[in-house]
Amino acid sequence: MIRSFFLFFTLFSTAIFAQDKLNLIPYPQTLQMTDGTFIIPETLNLDSNLPKNETEYLKKRLGSGIKWKDVKGKDAHLAYSKLSNAPAGKDEFYNLEISPSQIIIKSYTQEGYFRALQTVIQLLENYKTEKKIPAMKIEDHPKFAWRGMHLDVCRHFFTVDEVKQYIDYLAMYKLNTFHWHLTDDQGWRIEIKKYPKLTQVGSKRKESMIGAYVDNTFDGKPYGPYFYTQEQIKEVIKYAQDRHITVVPEIEMPGHALAALSAYPELACTKGPFEPATKWGVFDDVFCPKEETFTFLENVLDEVIDLFPSQYIHIGGDECPKTRWKECAHCQELIKKNNLKDEHGLQSYFIQRIEKYVNTKGRKIIGWDEILEGGLAPNAAVMSWTGVNGGIEAAKSKHFAVMTPGAYCYFDHYQGDPQSEPNAFGGFTPLDKVYSYNPVPAELSPEQAKYILGVQANLWTEYILDFKQVQYMIFPRLFALSEVGWGTADPKNYKEFENRVIHEFKVLDRLNVNYAKSIYNITGKVVSSQQGIAYELSTSQNPEGIRYTLDGTVPSARSNAYRSRIPIPKSLTLKSAYFEDGQLKSAVSTQPFTISKTTGKNITLEQQPSENYSFGGALTLVDGIIGNVKQLGKTWLGFQGKDVAATIDFGNKTAFSEVSFNTLENKGSWIHLAKSAKIFVSDDNRNFKMIKEIGKEDIQNAKGKIKANVGTQNAKYLKIIIENAGIIPAGNPGADSKAWLFVDEIGAN
Ligand code: ACM
Ligand code: ZN
Repeated sequence: MIRSFFLFFTLFSTAIFAQDKLNLIPYPQTLQMTDGTFIIPETLNLDSNLPKNETEYLKKRLGSGIKWKDVKGKDAHLAYSKLSNAPAGKDEFYNLEISPSQIIIKSYTQEGYFRALQTVIQLLENYKTEKKIPAMKIEDHPKFAWRGMHLDVCRHFFTVDEVKQYIDYLAMYKLNTFHWHLTDDQGWRIEIKKYPKLTQVGSKRKESMIGAYVDNTFDGKPYGPYFYTQEQIKEVIKYAQDRHITVVPEIEMPGHALAALSAYPELACTKGPFEPATKWGVFDDVFCPKEETFTFLENVLDEVIDLFPSQYIHIGGDECPKTRWKECAHCQELIKKNNLKDEHGLQSYFIQRIEKYVNTKGRKIIGWDEILEGGLAPNAAVMSWTGVNGGIEAAKSKHFAVMTPGAYCYFDHYQGDPQSEPNAFGGFTPLDKVYSYNPVPAELSPEQAKYILGVQANLWTEYILDFKQVQYMIFPRLFALSEVGWGTADPKNYKEFENRVIHEFKVLDRLNVNYAKSIYNITGKVVSSQQGIAYELSTSQNPEGIRYTLDGTVPSARSNAYRSRIPIPKSLTLKSAYFEDGQLKSAVSTQPFTISKTTGKNITLEQQPSENYSFGGALTLVDGIIGNVKQLGKTWLGFQGKDVAATIDFGNKTAFSEVSFNTLENKGSWIHLAKSAKIFVSDDNRNFKMIKEIGKEDIQNAKGKIKANVGTQNAKYLKIIIENAGIIPAGNPGADSKAWLFVDEIGAN
């Protein structure tokens, strides 16, 4: 993925709302408390007319905690009644009544019964200490038909057992679609009998990229072979069916195809040879639209369609560079022969051919929003990820859409301050952001809105090395998605939802499921004054629970309690954490400060940074926090196509002999090192004397981390001009566009 990985930060609201709901996720559409209580018995009598399969599931979920036995008729504690004549779209509807004598579920379908069981299980769990459940009536059904979670098993592989656990999480919170991302540049993970090399060659790679993308480092360890046999795939599909979850397979085309091309290089525009990618990103070698390729893909899809009963088959369609097609004689001829406008027309031609084929098998295609390029295939559904526009365009032209915009639905993004989170893709998608999402874009009329099938969150696994990390990234955000998809999210009352989330953490604890505690985490902000800088801490929880240290030790419940902003007079590391009843609740936030003679001083910029990368404003450059590559949007300022001209006012004549600053390089994201820098001094802020000029080569040799000896200086103003690389040269990502210049922390000592 090439998605920009810059960070955006929002402030947490601190309002506290009373808990007024039961601890249920997703919250039902209607819930009415009635009189009396149902006493939870030692042994739960299950009526023998309960739908079989689903009741087997219930027995497993009850586990050893609650005993059960099968009974006939009136002694049953749990009874079922099937409703007849289901109105359209009510398959998942259920009615649940808890009376002092019985729990009774009514539904049109077994699916509805299964969704109701999740509520029953949550209630039994919540009230197991009290041993009684208050009587109530629930009438419930989801707003959206597609409530999905995606899992990328290509960048990192997860076992059948782990995939089943993932499906269990979906089932527990009433999601109903599992999008299984099975093929990509870094690995082909599904056995195809007709093309054994796909897994023999394509399911392993030489090594994997590690650390932050900008580090460009590799682990040197062969990865794979890792794939699912067709028998295993069937086992997973059956497991999901038993939980009323639809599994939608994704076979990527025409891009993200390097693993397939490594096995069958004749399907590319050029000769190859190719290797499964070891790096993350987007690659130029893609499927060439020749007859041989279509035959191959049709044969692959035959086997996929035989395995997967889903109505939709996901054919990818995203991030397909046109570089090879532009230079390929066959591709160019095909464009002419079919009167296509250009390579985007060719992408549309590609997808439409595949769609026709899939339609002949009685199935439909769904693809990422780039399948809109050059014209949408007639029956295709769109998965809107680059934003919401793809979904809007689809719905307006009477095509179905699933909404999964990156800013709200990408669970590979950070969910808390990166300083206290494990390495992740750079976006910022905290719990409240997910919870605030409305899948129906405001632009749509009620008629058009009917084409919004639903909502999905995606978990790309470039930075997710094991299943514990998968759990961490999806929880608690899956709770928010669950309620958004069910249609009962109430973002105005986020705090109330957060209380239910915190309650649900106990369930995850008991199931030994890992989750992010980021909602407790401390956020920090630098404030400057004549006296220097100070650090202000806040939390979405009770601020009296914040403890901190200044000596590098991990804070404990007995450490300093935070009262007001903390002065930072010298270089040090501030660690903070949130405690409740003496228990550590948050991750420990670690913030190193590097104090120099510029720290906290007045700074002015002649040109302002781009809005998205200007968090903290000019002070960012002298806030005592050295830019961290994991926090582009927070600890750096970003300027596209502009130079940085910064003037620092020391207030008094100040002696120094070294000036330092950092600029960043990440050509994949169009970020280039500065071309040059000039340093000046002045005593009147009008007449400046240049004291140092730093060339391109010096900046490159220092990898952007400049420490310039400027001789003995004594001045009131320091000015620095850092030159943007300008237009990105040919052969680089984003060639001919304006380069980004990222700058941080201008120091003087
Ligand atoms: C995507 O994130 N490339 C669909
Ligand atoms: Zn070609």
